[in-house]
Amino acid sequence: TFVVTENCIQCKYTDCVEVCPVDCFYEGPNFLVIHPDECIDCALCEPECPAEAIFSEDELPDGQQQFIEINAELAEVWPNINEKKDALPDAEEWDGKSGKLEKLER
Ligand code: SF4
Ligand code: F3S
Repeated sequence: TFVVTENCIQCKYTDCVEVCPVDCFYEGPNFLVIHPDECIDCALCEPECPAEAIFSEDELPDGQQQFIEINAELAEVWPNINEKKDALPDAEEWDGKSGKLEKLER
């Protein structure tokens, strides 16, 4: 399965949701997640993310392992999103910042 990781937080560009053939993205206030049971591993979303926040669970960067659980948990409670919308207003400013996990709104 594919996993949305920390750099999506406070950016939420949403380019990813448009290409997903099974519509398995779920949206929170400042982050998106992928439902691990619905993702078919097509890899289409990975290159679409301007923040490079999407990885295969087998290729997660160091420190991002916890996002496997975060995606699984929040995909059960957040609503589905399958159409692109505007990124968050300060997306460019937040892109690439470290320590964004503490900003995650549930
Ligand atoms: Fe959707 Fe494919 Fe990305 Fe999985 S890998 S979330 S199925 S676009
Ligand atoms: Fe987040 Fe990238 Fe999608 S920033 S909303 S994973 S395009």
